[in-house]
Amino acid sequence: MRAYDGAVIPKAELHLHIEGTLEPELAFALAARNGIELPFADTEALRRAYLFEDLQSFLDLYYGLMAVLRTEADFAELADAYLTRAAAQGVRHAEIFFDPQAHVSRGVGIGAVIEGLGRALDLSEQRHGISTRLIMCFLRDESAESALQTLEAAKPYLHRITGVGLDSAEVGHPPAKFREVYEAAAELGLRRVAHAGEEGPPAYISEALDVLGVERIDHGLRCMEDPELVERLVRDRIPLTLCPLSNVRLRAVDLLEDHPLPGMMAAGLLCTVNSDDPAYFGGYVGDTFHAVHEALGLGPERLRELARNSFLASFLEDDEARRARYLAEVEAYEFED
Ligand code: ADE
Ligand code: ZN
Repeated sequence: MRAYDGAVIPKAELHLHIEGTLEPELAFALAARNGIELPFADTEALRRAYLFEDLQSFLDLYYGLMAVLRTEADFAELADAYLTRAAAQGVRHAEIFFDPQAHVSRGVGIGAVIEGLGRALDLSEQRHGISTRLIMCFLRDESAESALQTLEAAKPYLHRITGVGLDSAEVGHPPAKFREVYEAAAELGLRRVAHAGEEGPPAYISEALDVLGVERIDHGLRCMEDPELVERLVRDRIPLTLCPLSNVRLRAVDLLEDHPLPGMMAAGLLCTVNSDDPAYFGGYVGDTFHAVHEALGLGPERLRELARNSFLASFLEDDEARRARYLAEVEAYEFED
């Protein structure tokens, strides 16, 4: 069957963990290059392990597999592989998360991580036609002190970093724990986002807005449990970077057919759809557009709205002419029947 052509509408990807794009084939190739033995016989055995019960069961495998990423060249190859796949799915702009603490704790220098990713990103427009931004995430299940040390260590590389984010195990690690590092990031001129309301309660969404001053909420799925919060998110045009395939794989929703995305859009929320960790969750962002079309019946105009929202919500304030060009591409896109 030919993929639905709406899958390749021009779009921005705003919620993408670069480490979550590590495909089994690349993981084994890097393991061989770096002399690392993986606890899986082959790529098929690794793929069979992609059956998750919740966020934590995914994170255990996700952090474990990062052992193969050791050098600047490894990070450059990882990012270039993602950009190649993203370009084939209509991505024109990507705001990419990375998790420095997960590498520094294994003895990999933050410079190797950022310069490796930066090497691929520098070539992205020319090679793939994709503009990029980099967002450095703090692991919320690590200490506030560790987040502050990470921001300090990143200071020589701030010219490569647009913003900070907050990810990893959510429940029990409320946003307010990171007030100080977000204040410091704001003083450095960095944009602010945070995962909230993926597994954690709606109150974490409000707290991320009130205490951390975030401009976008990553996931935000559980806002639907609090009508006043929905009203606020609609009124203040706070973008949500939803990840429907991730929500199914991590059991935040039972079936894609049950995903609240259509109701969220109907409520007036500024929704975007994204892939989160596409190597693990069964698809890149074009596949996600295809899946929500099939499972949720979102037609061409809803998909166009999602694509438009992705550029409206992107951190392109330093290049409004580019944003306008991308938005014009969205409006000009013709869906086939
Ligand atoms: N890190 C990578 N993927 C994540 C997710 N879906 N939620 C929280 N942290 C993550
Ligand atoms: Zn995420």
